[in-house]
Amino acid sequence: MIEVSGRFRSRRRAHHKESDVSIPDPTGTAETLDTLDVDRSDADYRSWLKEAVRRVQADANRSADTHLLRFPLPEKWGIDLYLKDESTHPTGSLKHRLARSLFLYGLCNGWIRPGRPVIEASSGSTAVSEAYFAKLIGVPFIAVMPRTTSAEKCRLIEFHGGRCHFVDDSRKMYEASAALAAETGGHYMDQFTYAERATDWRGNNNIAESIFRQLEWERFPEPAWIVATAGTGGTSATLARYVHYTQRDTRICVADPENSCFFEGWTTGDPDVTCDCGSRIEGIGRPRMEPSFVPGAVDRMMKVPDAASIAAVRALDRAIGRKAGASTGTGLWGALKIVADMVATGQQGSVVTLLCDHGDRYLDKYYSDTWLKDQNLNIEPYGATIEGFLKTGVWPN
Ligand SMILES: Cc1ncc(COP(=O)(O)O)c(C=O)c1O
Repeated sequence: MIEVSGRFRSRRRAHHKESDVSIPDPTGTAETLDTLDVDRSDADYRSWLKEAVRRVQADANRSADTHLLRFPLPEKWGIDLYLKDESTHPTGSLKHRLARSLFLYGLCNGWIRPGRPVIEASSGSTAVSEAYFAKLIGVPFIAVMPRTTSAEKCRLIEFHGGRCHFVDDSRKMYEASAALAAETGGHYMDQFTYAERATDWRGNNNIAESIFRQLEWERFPEPAWIVATAGTGGTSATLARYVHYTQRDTRICVADPENSCFFEGWTTGDPDVTCDCGSRIEGIGRPRMEPSFVPGAVDRMMKVPDAASIAAVRALDRAIGRKAGASTGTGLWGALKIVADMVATGQQGSVVTLLCDHGDRYLDKYYSDTWLKDQNLNIEPYGATIEGFLKTGVWPN
């Protein structure tokens, strides 16, 4: 046995004992070199992994695609507005897709292990979906969330067998999650870092591929614009990359709420921009530009007032009888403003936005006038803008 020296030295302690392996002579004077061979394969773990992946894949196989709903606009405009209704996934939001991708990514990377908890920093929707998948494969789940997360989302996480761990300052979610993972030997899923890479952006029935397939028989099958919102930024990254990869002319707009950094970071080009208070629009708006947001892939951004987002979801309820969360309103406000631009310039075509989750999760917030008052939010002028626009085709400046 020779001494380890030079470039073979590692800063970390070797996991094997000296007697397990022999180390090559870096001077090359030994007659023959032993083959280094460390086999960590574990039959029990591999059969657990196989079964876990099967369960996640089988869940996808049992699921139907989500609907593309039409938002009624005056016929004479020659413009079609659609909402991709992601609230109909088994866990009620577009995060079902992300949670499935993150679980497959974590499992296939060997990061999620039997009996070890999965931990996630979330404003709630991702945690609901991840609690579902954790239960499906039989691992514990802990959601690290802001204390202001809606009571219904907390109930749903616990319903799926997860545990809620609250932080007072939403900017502390990341470090609290990493600390919990270190403490418990679990895996911090980190949707904010991995959302964009865990999703198959080239296809595999991702949200973009599904939208384009569902538009195939429409009169304007290639939308002029798709409007998304950003929590991790992963959905907008998938939409934009897919559009570029499939060589479409569709443009991607991201609508950002108040108290969020994506708009400022994108417009100024400063990726380190931060803001102090948390977003009131659950699921979207972050105090930093998240790593899963891909600014270069996005064509346009809008900063939408929170009162406008809430006025827009209420208008959606009046128009199609569906209650949605306020992030849907942020995107819908952006989409209506784009439709207004098209009406003003006489452009015909289609626009798509997302119905991200169901409003039942927020009855005590966005559908409560008491909450609006407490938040000092006046949605009336924005509601009047939408109603006026739908009647006259004119968007007030
Ligand atoms: C309700 C809701 N809408 C929209 C989004 C935005 O999705 P993404 O994380 O892909 O940017 C999220 C993300 O958490 C969400 O929870």
